[in-house]
Amino acid sequence: MEIRVFQSELIQLTLPALLVLAYEEEERFDPQILSLDKSLGGELSRLVKSGEITGKFKEFCVVRLSSGSLSCLIVVGVGKRVKFSLDKLRSAAAKGCRLARRLKLKELGVPAGSFLPFDHEKGATALAEGALLGLYRFRKYKSEKSAVTEEGLERLALIVPEKPELKPVEHGVGRGKIFADATNLVRDLVNEPSNAMTPALFAKAAEDVARKCKLDLKILEKNEIQALGMEAFLSVAKGSQEPPKLLVFEYRGGKKGSFTLGLVGKGVTFDSGGISIKPSEDMHHMTDDMAGAAACLGALQAISQLQLPLNVIVVLPLAENLPDGNAYKPGDIVTSYSGKTIEIINTDAEGRLLLADALAYTAKMQVDAIVDIATLTGGVRIALGGVISGVFSTDKKLLNELMEAAEACDEPLWELPLLEEYSLQVKGSLADLKNSAGRFGAPCTAAAFLKEFVGDASWAHIDIAATARIEGDKTLYSAHPYLPKSGATGIGTRLLAHFAERLSHQKLPREG
Ligand code: BES
Ligand code: MN
Ligand code: ZN
Repeated sequence: MEIRVFQSELIQLTLPALLVLAYEEEERFDPQILSLDKSLGGELSRLVKSGEITGKFKEFCVVRLSSGSLSCLIVVGVGKRVKFSLDKLRSAAAKGCRLARRLKLKELGVPAGSFLPFDHEKGATALAEGALLGLYRFRKYKSEKSAVTEEGLERLALIVPEKPELKPVEHGVGRGKIFADATNLVRDLVNEPSNAMTPALFAKAAEDVARKCKLDLKILEKNEIQALGMEAFLSVAKGSQEPPKLLVFEYRGGKKGSFTLGLVGKGVTFDSGGISIKPSEDMHHMTDDMAGAAACLGALQAISQLQLPLNVIVVLPLAENLPDGNAYKPGDIVTSYSGKTIEIINTDAEGRLLLADALAYTAKMQVDAIVDIATLTGGVRIALGGVISGVFSTDKKLLNELMEAAEACDEPLWELPLLEEYSLQVKGSLADLKNSAGRFGAPCTAAAFLKEFVGDASWAHIDIAATARIEGDKTLYSAHPYLPKSGATGIGTRLLAHFAERLSHQKLPREG
């Protein structure tokens, strides 16, 4: 979809439809809309009186106009003015655009007055994000392609009242498009079934991004991973016919001495549990177990398109976890890249094994901080209920930056504890460590396990097992309708890109 920005009086527009935001207040509309309503004969005000327009969040009303050059108004409620936020704006844009698509409209106008309470650039970013994220669908495998479902809204027109507002709004739209495109790329990767998203096919997708963004990408093959001594990572892949891959990206956006961020993402393209096999009921959802790796890839695309002045190293271990005669087994003892030995208690606790080696590898490079992101534990849904991602960190300052980024882009995080007690629980009896300490506190013991592999690096771990996909519980979708009703959310992508942006502004106290 194309998004254009221009300056005009609303009444002079020739457009099939205009998106109008309504508040749940006495003063239902912004001044830009009130003056439009006057010239239209007060139709909107009448609908407010009759109770058809309430302004309640997500409630909508389509108003057909019989005269003038505007044919219809799509009114979307955004709730109370005091609670209006960038996230509500993003949500309203998604609702409005989807409604316009359902009405088979080709173009929708949006008065920029609708984001007047905000910085114009930020408002425009949220609006563009809402439109592009809200219109996302994954219909690749539907063979019936009717015109109704395939044709979409082609253009969004943002109308600013004054000339000086053009520049910031255009800039904001450009940023919104970068964040949304990256997120939608991640959704596409995560929604793919595992027969179309093997480690090799993920690597192909990564090469496409590297080519497009002119990034340096190394793809380490199984023999090279073996030569490095990453037995923890390799064990996970042993039961599969699909060879594992280790992707290493380098983005050099910063001058000498600028911040270098290490990003690590769990890339299990299918998690059957291995020999400790999962129950079959929900196993088909385990195609999303590479959502962490995908989020890193998407974030890297956004970081490079934003040309952020920092350096980023992205390390993505990719493997498939299957049971087989060659598969690794409970009771096996493996030696990780770091040299620490690990007793395999449960082959379904595979994510931490490939992350252990990827983290230790990243920690050896010249990085100022490492953040990993993974669909690591089902327990994080038990703890937080699938509406917020969990985060752990060894560094208060780094955690603070992540929290601020999370708040700024509305992908919230909740801190979970990294206690010594959890570290005691992952100590091995025969080996140094064990890969599972059971069900209790699983997100925390998993994080304590990962901590063993980052040395003294400043590090944070994000568990997105409950937020990477919407299935069954629609709470996330209801509260943030730019997310899909079901399927991959792309959560983590905008978060990491915003986080990198914050770090790129940071001056480092460094020797030399
Ligand atoms: N990929 C799963 C975690 C997961 C569960 C992601 C549900 C998304 C939805 C992970 O590899 C796993 O199986 N974790 C186990 C760990 C346990 C064996 C210690 C879990 O959470 O049950
Ligand atoms: Mn597992
Ligand atoms: Zn897994």
